[in-house]
Amino acid sequence: MPSKKTDFLNYICQTSPHPMGLEIERAEGATLYTTDGKSFLDFISGIGVANIGFTHPAVLEAVKKQAEKYLHVMVYGEHVLEPQVALAKKLVSLLPDVFEQVYFTNSGTEANEGALKLAKKYTGRKKLISFENSFHGDSQGSCAVTGREMYRKPFEPLLPGVSFLPFNDVNALDALNEEVAAVITEPIQGEGGMRVPDTAFLFKLRERCDARGALLIFDEVQTGFARTGKLFAMEHFGVTPDIVTMAKGMGGGMPLGGFAASKKIMATFSQNPPLSHVTTFGGHPVSCAAGRAGLEVILKEGLVEKAEADGQYITKQLRHLAGQNIGIREVRGKGLMIGLEVENADIAERCVQGAFERGVILGWTLHSDTVIRIMPPLILSKDEIGCGLNAIAEALGGSF
Ligand SMILES: Cc1ncc(COP(=O)(O)O)c(C=O)c1O
Repeated sequence: MPSKKTDFLNYICQTSPHPMGLEIERAEGATLYTTDGKSFLDFISGIGVANIGFTHPAVLEAVKKQAEKYLHVMVYGEHVLEPQVALAKKLVSLLPDVFEQVYFTNSGTEANEGALKLAKKYTGRKKLISFENSFHGDSQGSCAVTGREMYRKPFEPLLPGVSFLPFNDVNALDALNEEVAAVITEPIQGEGGMRVPDTAFLFKLRERCDARGALLIFDEVQTGFARTGKLFAMEHFGVTPDIVTMAKGMGGGMPLGGFAASKKIMATFSQNPPLSHVTTFGGHPVSCAAGRAGLEVILKEGLVEKAEADGQYITKQLRHLAGQNIGIREVRGKGLMIGLEVENADIAERCVQGAFERGVILGWTLHSDTVIRIMPPLILSKDEIGCGLNAIAEALGGSF
Protein backbone atom coordinates (compact mmCIF):
# COMPACT_ATOMS: atom_id res chain seq x y z
CA MET A 1 0.00 0.00 0.00
CA PRO A 2 1.55 3.41 -0.97
CA SER A 3 2.34 5.69 2.00
CA LYS A 4 -0.27 8.32 2.75
CA LYS A 5 2.13 10.34 4.91
CA THR A 6 2.85 12.97 2.25
CA ASP A 7 -0.85 13.53 1.62
CA PHE A 8 -1.42 13.67 5.38
CA LEU A 9 1.16 16.45 5.68
CA ASN A 10 -0.20 18.25 2.61
CA TYR A 11 -3.93 18.03 3.06
CA ILE A 12 -4.59 17.65 6.79
CA CYS A 13 -4.27 20.85 8.83
CA GLN A 14 -1.23 20.29 11.00
CA THR A 15 -1.54 21.24 14.66
CA SER A 16 2.03 20.49 15.66
CA PRO A 17 5.41 20.60 13.92
CA HIS A 18 6.12 16.99 14.93
CA PRO A 19 3.08 14.73 14.52
CA MET A 20 3.68 11.09 15.44
CA GLY A 21 2.43 10.26 11.95
CA LEU A 22 1.75 6.56 12.44
CA GLU A 23 -0.13 5.21 9.42
CA ILE A 24 -2.86 3.20 11.14
CA GLU A 25 -4.19 0.04 9.57
CA ARG A 26 -6.28 -1.20 12.47
CA ALA A 27 -6.57 -0.96 16.24
CA GLU A 28 -7.64 -3.62 18.70
CA GLY A 29 -7.40 -3.96 22.47
CA ALA A 30 -4.55 -1.74 23.62
CA THR A 31 -2.66 -2.02 20.34
CA LEU A 32 -2.35 0.08 17.18
CA TYR A 33 -1.25 -1.77 14.03
CA THR A 34 0.43 0.25 11.28
CA THR A 35 0.50 -0.25 7.52
CA ASP A 36 4.22 -1.09 7.59
CA GLY A 37 3.55 -4.16 9.72
CA LYS A 38 4.51 -2.71 13.12
CA SER A 39 2.45 -2.63 16.29
CA PHE A 40 2.37 -0.17 19.19
CA LEU A 41 1.01 -0.55 22.68
CA ASP A 42 -0.87 2.70 23.29
CA PHE A 43 -0.13 3.74 26.87
CA ILE A 44 -2.12 6.98 26.48
CA SER A 45 -5.36 5.45 25.09
CA GLY A 46 -5.56 7.90 22.17
CA ILE A 47 -5.45 10.56 24.96
CA GLY A 48 -7.87 9.12 27.44
CA VAL A 49 -10.49 7.74 25.06
CA ALA A 50 -9.86 4.00 24.69
CA ASN A 51 -10.71 3.09 28.29
CA ILE A 52 -12.27 -0.20 27.11
CA GLY A 53 -9.59 -0.63 24.43
CA PHE A 54 -9.83 0.08 20.72
CA THR A 55 -12.60 -1.26 18.50
CA HIS A 56 -14.29 -3.25 21.26
CA PRO A 57 -16.56 -5.95 19.73
CA ALA A 58 -19.50 -4.95 21.96
CA VAL A 59 -19.25 -1.36 20.69
CA LEU A 60 -18.92 -2.52 17.08
CA GLU A 61 -22.04 -4.63 17.45
CA ALA A 62 -24.00 -1.74 18.96
CA VAL A 63 -22.82 0.64 16.23
CA LYS A 64 -23.81 -1.79 13.46
CA LYS A 65 -27.21 -2.49 14.98
CA GLN A 66 -28.05 1.18 15.46
CA ALA A 67 -26.67 2.24 12.06
CA GLU A 68 -29.00 -0.23 10.38
CA LYS A 69 -32.02 1.33 12.15
CA TYR A 70 -31.38 5.06 11.78
CA LEU A 71 -28.60 7.65 11.78
CA HIS A 72 -29.49 11.34 12.21
CA VAL A 73 -33.22 12.02 12.23
CA MET A 74 -33.71 15.40 13.94
CA VAL A 75 -31.86 18.10 15.87
CA TYR A 76 -31.38 17.62 19.60
CA GLY A 77 -34.28 17.23 21.97
CA GLU A 78 -37.26 16.84 19.61
CA HIS A 79 -37.76 13.14 18.89
CA VAL A 80 -37.56 10.23 21.31
CA LEU A 81 -34.35 8.37 20.43
CA GLU A 82 -34.03 5.13 22.34
CA PRO A 83 -30.18 5.06 22.44
CA GLN A 84 -30.11 8.59 23.96
CA VAL A 85 -32.82 7.86 26.50
CA ALA A 86 -31.28 4.54 27.54
CA LEU A 87 -27.81 6.02 28.02
CA ALA A 88 -29.11 9.05 29.93
CA LYS A 89 -31.16 6.80 32.22
CA LYS A 90 -28.18 4.55 32.88
CA LEU A 91 -25.86 7.48 33.60
CA VAL A 92 -28.36 9.07 35.98
CA SER A 93 -28.62 5.76 37.83
CA LEU A 94 -24.83 5.63 38.26
CA LEU A 95 -24.19 9.28 39.14
CA PRO A 96 -24.89 10.83 42.58
CA ASP A 97 -28.60 11.60 43.18
CA VAL A 98 -28.37 15.34 42.38
CA PHE A 99 -27.85 14.48 38.72
CA GLU A 100 -31.25 13.91 37.15
CA GLN A 101 -30.83 14.76 33.48
CA VAL A 102 -28.19 14.61 30.78
CA TYR A 103 -27.55 16.91 27.81
CA PHE A 104 -25.52 15.14 25.11
CA THR A 105 -22.85 16.80 22.98
CA ASN A 106 -20.26 15.63 20.45
CA SER A 107 -17.14 16.49 22.44
CA GLY A 108 -15.64 17.62 25.72
CA THR A 109 -15.28 21.25 24.78
CA GLU A 110 -18.95 21.44 23.77
CA ALA A 111 -19.92 19.86 27.08
CA ASN A 112 -18.02 22.62 28.90
CA GLU A 113 -19.53 25.33 26.67
CA GLY A 114 -23.00 24.05 27.55
CA ALA A 115 -22.19 23.85 31.26
CA LEU A 116 -20.85 27.43 31.35
CA LYS A 117 -23.87 28.80 29.48
CA LEU A 118 -26.18 26.85 31.75
CA ALA A 119 -24.54 28.25 34.89
CA LYS A 120 -24.63 31.84 33.60
CA LYS A 121 -28.26 31.65 32.59
CA TYR A 122 -29.35 29.80 35.75
CA THR A 123 -27.65 32.20 38.17
CA GLY A 124 -28.09 35.35 36.07
CA ARG A 125 -24.47 36.17 36.91
CA LYS A 126 -21.58 36.91 34.57
CA LYS A 127 -18.29 36.01 36.23
CA LEU A 128 -16.47 32.70 36.07
CA ILE A 129 -13.64 31.24 38.09
CA SER A 130 -11.20 28.62 36.88
CA PHE A 131 -7.76 27.42 37.98
CA GLU A 132 -4.20 27.85 36.82
CA ASN A 133 -2.94 25.00 34.64
CA SER A 134 -6.43 23.71 33.92
CA PHE A 135 -7.52 22.57 30.47
CA HIS A 136 -11.13 22.66 29.34
CA GLY A 137 -11.02 22.53 25.54
CA ASP A 138 -10.37 24.66 22.48
CA SER A 139 -13.64 26.33 21.55
CA GLN A 140 -13.76 29.95 22.69
CA GLY A 141 -15.63 29.56 25.99
CA SER A 142 -13.60 26.55 27.09
CA CYS A 143 -10.40 28.24 25.92
CA ALA A 144 -11.36 31.31 27.98
CA VAL A 145 -11.44 29.20 31.17
CA THR A 146 -8.27 27.24 30.34
CA GLY A 147 -5.57 28.16 32.84
CA ARG A 148 -2.55 28.77 30.63
CA GLU A 149 -2.08 32.22 29.12
CA MET A 150 -0.07 31.11 26.08
CA TYR A 151 -3.08 29.16 24.80
CA ARG A 152 -5.53 32.03 25.40
CA LYS A 153 -3.53 35.06 24.31
CA PRO A 154 -3.60 34.55 20.50
CA PHE A 155 -7.40 34.26 20.57
CA GLU A 156 -8.31 37.21 22.78
CA PRO A 157 -10.75 38.79 23.29
CA LEU A 158 -12.34 35.65 24.75
CA LEU A 159 -15.02 35.59 27.47
CA PRO A 160 -14.80 38.57 29.82
CA GLY A 161 -14.98 38.18 33.60
CA VAL A 162 -12.87 35.03 34.00
CA SER A 163 -10.42 34.82 36.94
CA PHE A 164 -7.84 32.13 37.56
CA LEU A 165 -6.93 30.97 41.04
CA PRO A 166 -4.04 28.71 42.02
CA PHE A 167 -5.15 25.07 42.06
CA ASN A 168 -5.31 23.31 45.42
CA ASP A 169 -4.88 26.55 47.40
CA VAL A 170 -7.65 26.80 49.99
CA ASN A 171 -6.82 30.41 50.89
CA ALA A 172 -7.23 31.59 47.30
CA LEU A 173 -10.90 30.57 47.42
CA ASP A 174 -11.72 33.76 49.35
CA ALA A 175 -11.87 35.42 45.91
CA LEU A 176 -15.15 33.65 45.25
CA ASN A 177 -17.90 36.27 45.67
CA GLU A 178 -21.60 36.85 44.87
CA GLU A 179 -20.86 37.92 41.28
CA VAL A 180 -19.57 34.48 40.33
CA ALA A 181 -21.89 32.30 38.21
CA ALA A 182 -19.70 29.22 38.33
CA VAL A 183 -16.38 27.73 39.25
CA ILE A 184 -15.09 25.15 36.78
CA THR A 185 -12.39 22.66 37.71
CA GLU A 186 -11.12 19.22 36.83
CA PRO A 187 -11.32 17.11 40.00
CA ILE A 188 -7.84 15.88 39.04
CA GLN A 189 -5.90 18.11 36.63
CA GLY A 190 -4.89 16.14 33.53
CA GLU A 191 -3.06 18.49 31.16
CA GLY A 192 -1.76 20.39 34.19
CA GLY A 193 0.39 17.33 34.98
CA MET A 194 -1.86 14.74 36.66
CA ARG A 195 -2.33 16.79 39.81
CA VAL A 196 -4.55 15.35 42.53
CA PRO A 197 -5.88 18.07 44.87
CA ASP A 198 -6.38 17.64 48.61
CA THR A 199 -9.87 16.55 49.58
CA ALA A 200 -9.97 19.58 51.90
CA PHE A 201 -9.54 21.88 48.90
CA LEU A 202 -12.51 20.46 47.01
CA PHE A 203 -14.60 20.47 50.19
CA LYS A 204 -13.81 24.11 50.80
CA LEU A 205 -14.56 24.90 47.16
CA ARG A 206 -17.98 23.24 47.49
CA GLU A 207 -18.62 25.14 50.71
CA ARG A 208 -17.65 28.53 49.20
CA CYS A 209 -19.80 27.93 46.11
CA ASP A 210 -22.79 27.13 48.33
CA ALA A 211 -22.17 30.15 50.55
CA ARG A 212 -21.89 32.53 47.57
CA GLY A 213 -24.60 30.97 45.38
CA ALA A 214 -22.20 29.98 42.60
CA LEU A 215 -22.52 26.68 40.74
CA LEU A 216 -19.68 24.18 40.86
CA ILE A 217 -18.78 22.48 37.58
CA PHE A 218 -16.52 19.43 37.55
CA ASP A 219 -14.92 18.76 34.19
CA GLU A 220 -14.63 14.94 34.16
CA VAL A 221 -13.86 14.79 30.45
CA GLN A 222 -10.50 13.12 31.10
CA THR A 223 -11.14 11.62 34.54
CA GLY A 224 -14.47 9.97 33.74
CA PHE A 225 -15.55 6.47 32.89
CA ALA A 226 -13.40 4.47 35.33
CA ARG A 227 -10.10 6.09 34.35
CA THR A 228 -9.12 6.95 37.95
CA GLY A 229 -10.36 3.76 39.64
CA LYS A 230 -13.83 5.19 40.28
CA LEU A 231 -16.50 5.62 37.61
CA PHE A 232 -16.09 9.39 38.12
CA ALA A 233 -13.19 11.02 39.99
CA MET A 234 -15.55 13.05 42.19
CA GLU A 235 -16.19 9.81 44.12
CA HIS A 236 -12.61 9.84 45.46
CA PHE A 237 -13.29 13.07 47.30
CA GLY A 238 -16.95 12.75 48.29
CA VAL A 239 -17.60 16.17 46.76
CA THR A 240 -20.51 16.51 44.33
CA PRO A 241 -20.64 19.41 41.88
CA ASP A 242 -23.82 20.98 40.49
CA ILE A 243 -22.86 20.18 36.90
CA VAL A 244 -20.54 17.44 35.68
CA THR A 245 -19.16 17.38 32.14
CA MET A 246 -17.88 14.28 30.36
CA ALA A 247 -16.62 13.01 26.98
CA LYS A 248 -13.50 11.09 25.82
CA GLY A 249 -14.11 7.55 27.22
CA MET A 250 -17.86 8.13 27.12
CA GLY A 251 -18.52 6.98 23.55
CA GLY A 252 -16.51 3.75 23.58
CA GLY A 253 -14.45 5.23 20.72
CA MET A 254 -17.23 7.21 19.06
CA PRO A 255 -17.56 11.02 19.42
CA LEU A 256 -19.77 11.70 22.41
CA GLY A 257 -19.84 14.12 25.32
CA GLY A 258 -22.39 15.47 27.72
CA PHE A 259 -23.18 17.19 30.96
CA ALA A 260 -25.50 16.27 33.79
CA ALA A 261 -27.29 18.38 36.40
CA SER A 262 -30.55 18.54 38.35
CA LYS A 263 -33.86 18.99 36.51
CA LYS A 264 -34.21 22.40 38.14
CA ILE A 265 -30.93 23.65 36.69
CA MET A 266 -31.46 21.99 33.30
CA ALA A 267 -34.93 23.57 32.96
CA THR A 268 -33.07 26.84 32.29
CA PHE A 269 -32.47 25.82 28.69
CA SER A 270 -36.15 25.36 27.80
CA GLN A 271 -37.34 28.76 29.07
CA ASN A 272 -36.79 32.48 28.42
CA PRO A 273 -36.17 31.89 25.55
CA PRO A 274 -36.97 28.28 24.74
CA LEU A 275 -34.34 26.55 22.59
CA SER A 276 -31.60 28.57 24.27
CA HIS A 277 -29.03 25.82 23.79
CA VAL A 278 -29.45 23.35 20.93
CA THR A 279 -27.25 21.18 18.75
CA THR A 280 -27.77 19.33 15.49
CA PHE A 281 -25.57 16.30 16.09
CA GLY A 282 -25.06 16.20 19.88
CA GLY A 283 -26.03 12.77 21.22
CA HIS A 284 -25.98 11.13 17.80
CA PRO A 285 -27.92 7.85 18.08
CA VAL A 286 -24.95 5.76 16.90
CA SER A 287 -22.62 7.44 19.42
CA CYS A 288 -25.14 6.95 22.22
CA ALA A 289 -25.58 3.27 21.33
CA ALA A 290 -21.79 2.92 21.38
CA GLY A 291 -21.60 4.78 24.69
CA ARG A 292 -24.21 2.51 26.26
CA ALA A 293 -22.34 -0.60 25.09
CA GLY A 294 -19.04 0.82 26.33
CA LEU A 295 -20.52 1.59 29.74
CA GLU A 296 -21.84 -1.97 30.01
CA VAL A 297 -18.33 -3.26 29.24
CA ILE A 298 -16.88 -1.09 32.02
CA LEU A 299 -19.42 -2.41 34.50
CA LYS A 300 -19.51 -6.07 33.42
CA GLU A 301 -15.74 -6.45 33.11
CA GLY A 302 -15.10 -4.76 36.47
CA LEU A 303 -12.90 -2.10 34.87
CA VAL A 304 -13.41 0.36 37.73
CA GLU A 305 -11.81 -2.05 40.20
CA LYS A 306 -9.23 -3.19 37.63
CA ALA A 307 -8.13 0.42 36.99
CA GLU A 308 -7.66 0.89 40.73
CA ALA A 309 -5.65 -2.34 41.16
CA ASP A 310 -3.54 -1.94 37.99
CA GLY A 311 -2.95 1.70 38.86
CA GLN A 312 -1.62 0.75 42.26
CA TYR A 313 0.67 -1.88 40.74
CA ILE A 314 2.05 0.41 38.01
CA THR A 315 2.55 3.25 40.51
CA LYS A 316 4.42 0.92 42.86
CA GLN A 317 6.68 -0.28 40.05
CA LEU A 318 7.36 3.26 38.87
CA ARG A 319 8.19 4.32 42.43
CA HIS A 320 10.63 1.42 42.56
CA LEU A 321 12.26 2.86 39.42
CA ALA A 322 12.27 6.30 41.01
CA GLY A 323 14.63 4.94 43.65
CA GLN A 324 17.27 4.18 40.98
CA ASN A 325 18.53 7.73 40.47
CA ILE A 326 17.49 7.86 36.81
CA GLY A 327 15.85 11.30 36.86
CA ILE A 328 12.36 10.50 38.16
CA ARG A 329 11.14 13.21 40.52
CA GLU A 330 7.64 11.99 41.41
CA VAL A 331 4.99 9.44 40.49
CA ARG A 332 1.43 10.62 41.14
CA GLY A 333 -2.17 10.21 40.07
CA LYS A 334 -5.14 7.96 40.71
CA GLY A 335 -6.01 4.63 39.11
CA LEU A 336 -4.71 4.56 35.55
CA MET A 337 -4.31 8.32 35.29
CA ILE A 338 -0.66 8.52 36.26
CA GLY A 339 1.93 11.25 35.87
CA LEU A 340 5.62 10.46 35.89
CA GLU A 341 7.41 13.70 36.66
CA VAL A 342 11.07 13.72 35.65
CA GLU A 343 13.83 16.21 36.41
CA ASN A 344 13.93 17.99 33.05
CA ALA A 345 12.43 18.07 29.56
CA ASP A 346 15.39 16.20 28.03
CA ILE A 347 14.77 13.21 30.28
CA ALA A 348 11.07 13.30 29.41
CA GLU A 349 11.89 13.38 25.71
CA ARG A 350 14.33 10.47 26.11
CA CYS A 351 11.68 8.46 27.93
CA VAL A 352 8.90 9.10 25.41
CA GLN A 353 11.21 8.55 22.42
CA GLY A 354 12.87 5.47 23.94
CA ALA A 355 9.51 3.88 24.74
CA PHE A 356 8.30 4.63 21.21
CA GLU A 357 11.34 2.85 19.74
CA ARG A 358 10.35 -0.13 21.91
CA GLY A 359 6.78 -0.05 20.57
CA VAL A 360 5.09 1.78 23.46
CA ILE A 361 3.31 5.12 23.00
CA LEU A 362 3.64 7.65 25.82
CA GLY A 363 3.27 11.43 25.77
CA TRP A 364 3.60 14.65 27.69
CA THR A 365 0.82 16.58 29.36
CA LEU A 366 -0.09 19.79 27.50
CA HIS A 367 1.01 22.21 30.24
CA SER A 368 4.11 20.36 31.40
CA ASP A 369 7.00 19.00 29.36
CA THR A 370 8.47 17.23 32.39
CA VAL A 371 5.37 15.16 33.19
CA ILE A 372 4.95 11.95 31.19
CA ARG A 373 1.37 10.81 30.78
CA ILE A 374 0.67 7.17 31.62
CA MET A 375 -2.96 6.47 30.78
CA PRO A 376 -3.26 3.02 29.19
CA PRO A 377 -6.54 1.31 28.27
CA LEU A 378 -8.12 -0.23 31.37
CA ILE A 379 -8.29 -3.66 29.72
CA LEU A 380 -4.50 -4.18 29.70
CA SER A 381 -3.26 -7.72 30.29
CA LYS A 382 -0.49 -8.46 32.82
CA ASP A 383 1.92 -9.02 29.91
CA GLU A 384 1.03 -5.68 28.37
CA ILE A 385 1.55 -3.92 31.69
CA GLY A 386 4.98 -5.58 31.95
CA CYS A 387 5.81 -4.62 28.38
CA GLY A 388 4.95 -0.95 29.00
CA LEU A 389 6.83 -0.80 32.28
CA ASN A 390 9.93 -2.44 30.78
CA ALA A 391 9.92 0.03 27.89
CA ILE A 392 9.79 2.94 30.36
CA ALA A 393 12.53 1.45 32.53
CA GLU A 394 14.84 0.73 29.60
CA ALA A 395 14.25 4.16 28.05
CA LEU A 396 15.27 5.81 31.32
CA GLY A 397 18.19 3.48 31.95
CA GLY A 398 16.60 1.69 34.93
CA SER A 399 15.51 -1.90 35.53
CA PHE A 400 13.15 -4.03 37.59
C1 LIG B 1 -10.24 17.98 31.14
C2 LIG B 1 -10.58 18.19 29.69
N1 LIG B 1 -11.64 18.95 29.38
C3 LIG B 1 -12.00 19.16 28.10
C4 LIG B 1 -11.27 18.63 27.06
C5 LIG B 1 -11.68 18.89 25.64
O1 LIG B 1 -12.29 17.76 25.11
P1 LIG B 1 -12.48 17.62 23.53
O2 LIG B 1 -11.12 17.49 22.94
O3 LIG B 1 -13.34 16.40 23.35
O4 LIG B 1 -13.18 18.86 23.06
C6 LIG B 1 -10.14 17.84 27.35
C7 LIG B 1 -9.34 17.27 26.26
O5 LIG B 1 -8.22 16.86 26.43
C8 LIG B 1 -9.79 17.61 28.70
O6 LIG B 1 -8.72 16.87 29.03
